[in-house]
Amino acid sequence: MVRTVLAVAVVALAGTALVAQTDPIKARKDLMEANGKQSKAGNDMVQGKQPFNLDAAKKVFAAFQEAGEKEPALFPDTSKTGGKTAALPAIWENKADFDARFAKLASDSKAAIEATKDLDTFKAQFTEVTKNCGGCHQVYRKKET
Ligand code: HEC
Repeated sequence: MVRTVLAVAVVALAGTALVAQTDPIKARKDLMEANGKQSKAGNDMVQGKQPFNLDAAKKVFAAFQEAGEKEPALFPDTSKTGGKTAALPAIWENKADFDARFAKLASDSKAAIEATKDLDTFKAQFTEVTKNCGGCHQVYRKKET
């Protein structure tokens, strides 16, 4: 029993070390990039450029939910600059608001997975959920030059 507990503790520690070693700027950009791809896939279905597919539609929101859950941890104080980041200093001045926006993205996306049954319901959900993206970029992300 004691041995099992120790083994679990060692594994947990190894996990923490791994997370600490990954570059948070790269990790958060990769997650956002994946969101961008899913967002495009969603848009294509909404606009009829791609046929509607229920699994693909739910996958869009699943990716958004994952980002909403994982992103807050990827903006540590040590990652304000470097790695060609487009993150604005305002993030760390209003970290609670910033994190709350990700929490909202996650919970809205989770609800959207449940609510999506067909193209019409997908359209409605997609329009609402993606407001979270632009809303945050407006305040916390450098405009593209
Ligand atoms: C709570 C804030 C927030 C929300 C919500 C958010 N983003 Fe972002 N996003 C950012 C920030 C900050 C960056 C810049 C990250 C960096 O450069 O370090 C970013 C960057 C990006 C990028 C560029 C990635 C790159 O490789 O430079 C894409 C694409 C993107 N977001 C898409 C989305 C989509 C799609 C959604 C909605 C599903 C979304 N984002 C929701 C804050 C947010």
